[in-house]
Amino acid sequence: MVDTPPEHMSLWIATAPGPTFPRLLGDLTVDVAILGGGIAGLTTATLLKQAGKTVAVIEADQVVRGVTGYTTAKVTAQHNLIYADLIDTFGEDAARIYAHSNQAALERIAQFVAEDGIDCDFERKPNYCYSESATDLTMLEEEVTAAQNLGLPASLVTATGLPFPVAGALRVDHQAQFHPRKYLLQLAARIPGAGSFIFEHTRALDVEESNPHRVITDQGVLQAQDVVVATHYPILDRGLFFARVFPRREYVICVRANEGTDPHGMYISIGEPTRSVRTAPSPDGLLLVIGGEKHRPGEDPDTNARYRQLEHFARERFGCDQVVYRWSTQDTYAVDRVPYIGRLRPGADHLYVATGFGAWGMTNGTLAGMIIADAILGVVNPWAELYYPSRLNLRASAAKLLKEGANVARHFIGDRLAGGETFPDAIPPGEGAIVNHHGEKVAVYKDEQGKLHGVSPVCTHLGCLVGWNTAEKSWDCPCHGSRFDVTGQVIHGPAVANLAQQNLADRSGMAAYRDGTEDDRA
Ligand code: FES
Repeated sequence: MVDTPPEHMSLWIATAPGPTFPRLLGDLTVDVAILGGGIAGLTTATLLKQAGKTVAVIEADQVVRGVTGYTTAKVTAQHNLIYADLIDTFGEDAARIYAHSNQAALERIAQFVAEDGIDCDFERKPNYCYSESATDLTMLEEEVTAAQNLGLPASLVTATGLPFPVAGALRVDHQAQFHPRKYLLQLAARIPGAGSFIFEHTRALDVEESNPHRVITDQGVLQAQDVVVATHYPILDRGLFFARVFPRREYVICVRANEGTDPHGMYISIGEPTRSVRTAPSPDGLLLVIGGEKHRPGEDPDTNARYRQLEHFARERFGCDQVVYRWSTQDTYAVDRVPYIGRLRPGADHLYVATGFGAWGMTNGTLAGMIIADAILGVVNPWAELYYPSRLNLRASAAKLLKEGANVARHFIGDRLAGGETFPDAIPPGEGAIVNHHGEKVAVYKDEQGKLHGVSPVCTHLGCLVGWNTAEKSWDCPCHGSRFDVTGQVIHGPAVANLAQQNLADRSGMAAYRDGTEDDRA
């Protein structure tokens, strides 16, 4: 029983603590090195080990504690409104591959659950994309027609299990939801042994392309014939992914469901602001998992307000106000809406990448494991071409490429020129801000005791300036989503190096600077 809401604790992490795995100690050689212990990495490792390969999964933190530990864990091939758009931009055959491959990923998960007897609250549920506005009905009808033509069990309905009326909804039957950590920790438990490993607290720093490849980590060197980069946002910049994928933060709260508020399905609204709803069982009764409030990292001065918006929705629409968990997550989107899965770039034999899953990592991440495992095993995969990472579909991506590229340029250049820095005295305890110190920008965090902690605001990935995240107490980069804790340590890539430490004057010295009296001893 949870009496008070834990601060920023994922339901999945709180209710499935899981085992720990050792660090890499020294150098090692395996058939396949997999960077990243989320759903893509662990699925790839599982399939390859089953096929007789030796694998090593290396994870900078702990497995299933990155993005996969903070998902809403809907397992569906209906990724909001997507199929009418894919038919328009990629063509009907490609859209059919997207639908069939994601449906196959759903069934791959179901098969693991059934065959291995994995107790992970796997439940078949219908998935709904709904709108409360009649003006959206045409869009919904077009999507239903597209999904039906591609073979999905889709229909247009006006009655849902939601406790409020909708103008219409796209319903896709026989989809699923589960507890992602209970599922993936069972897969992870089967990986070590017979020459295969999982290493935690082992950060990949680089991959030297050779034969075999050499993965340079902060704990040793891993040699492998094949290397899979499944680090959510790729830590390697060799495929120009920094221009083709973009990050968004999103928020989730978990509230106790009142009697009669079980919506009997998974839901996502098609308009703004997006609202995602599903249920999760708990020993104390049903929970509602409610998500939304998407925004670019590092740009929102009051991320706590995002949680308040979701709480308002839970109260107003479901009459539920007992928040038991809340957390935020970060998703990576491909500019053309199709994930990048396969060879990292042309000519990079035996080096693979999986990224750009959008907010649909359960099926897309599983699919990535299936496609990359096939590639390494020499099996022809009928879906691989659609997801080829080096594609460039301008019809599907030009507008987003330009918009996201302009945004990165705005941050890279504009943030350096911008004033607006604050003074240390103005920073409340427990908060951070960019401060002008000796004419240099410094990212300053003031702890609860009033002590100042300064780090360089220059992101170690490609040099944009980080912004303060008040809800998570972190420095977030608006360009590609790297995140750092208050001491500058990397907590989310693509950056692999920490922010540089900055020596600050003591508090009185900083105050003197504000008054224009600071000398160079500070
Ligand atoms: Fe790329 Fe910061 S994440 S510059």
